[in-house]
Amino acid sequence: MIETLEQSVASPALEELKAPVLYTKDVNVWYGDHHALQDTSLDFHKGEITALIGPSGCGKSTYLRCLNLMNREIQGCQITGEIFYREHDINTPEEDLYELRKSIGMVFQQPNPFPKTIYENIAFAPRCHGQRNKATLDELVEESLRGAALWDEVKDKLNKSAQALSGGQQQRLCIARALALKPDVILLDEPCSALDPISTLAIEELMHSIAAGRAIIIVTHNMEQATRVSNRTAFFYMGEMVETGETEQIFNAPKSQRLNDYLSGRFS
Ligand SMILES: Nc1ncnc2c1ncn2[C@@H]1O[C@H](COP(=O)(O)OP(=O)(O)OP(=O)(O)O)[C@@H](O)[C@H]1O
Ligand SMILES: [Mg+2]
Repeated sequence: MIETLEQSVASPALEELKAPVLYTKDVNVWYGDHHALQDTSLDFHKGEITALIGPSGCGKSTYLRCLNLMNREIQGCQITGEIFYREHDINTPEEDLYELRKSIGMVFQQPNPFPKTIYENIAFAPRCHGQRNKATLDELVEESLRGAALWDEVKDKLNKSAQALSGGQQQRLCIARALALKPDVILLDEPCSALDPISTLAIEELMHSIAAGRAIIIVTHNMEQATRVSNRTAFFYMGEMVETGETEQIFNAPKSQRLNDYLSGRFS
């Protein structure tokens, strides 16, 4: 029997595709008595790249750090609201941060490889998570470096120090390191701001391939970068998520005055 459209849309596989892999509902963050983020609700789907934009100090990094509970490490920081991953709220004291960060990886502004070899940078975390088989680790190292478009440049020097790589290569290594844990979500906080234009382009070109099967969330100050790499954009202003939508709509037909002013350079 031929399935009707309604039946096929209701099938579990499609339901799963439609469901967000990660979402927040009314998240608030305080640093001491400074209310840095207000009632932020957003959802993130596999295969999508979401850009977080807005002026300096508006709460982009604060929000990003909520998504894998990085803010927990900041003394005096309090987070309220729901942060749902794999159908449960992770914003609870019981959440296992070690396991969570395996699934929700993070790449920072400054490339931060470990002071180890290129190979060890990738193999270290999977080994800590129990992978001891040398052949499997070798495969994982190659697959992750290929995934981060770095394999051809480093395949002959896997046992050399990662710190001898260029800044752009180090950042791709950090992306490979995140990929090695096969995360569902990768968070990137201004990953290109310390890089030259060519290295920036290399990272941007990577974005779509690493988004296959996972959600990517990237903070950027570079509006061209947001339009080049993302499908969805969320605009933050003074601790509030003011507007979100398809990237094309956000940049070509902003609905809110504050976003319009921001895009036309009235404040930065
Ligand atoms: N560790 C912290 N302790 C205290 N206050 C903080 C901390 N981190 C951020 N803040 C404050 O929270 C607010 C939001 O900061 P956040 O770093 O999230 O902004 P941002 O949008 O990422 O800015 P930028 O674009 O400059 O990186 C700011 O007022 C900032 O001073
Ligand atoms: Mg920031």
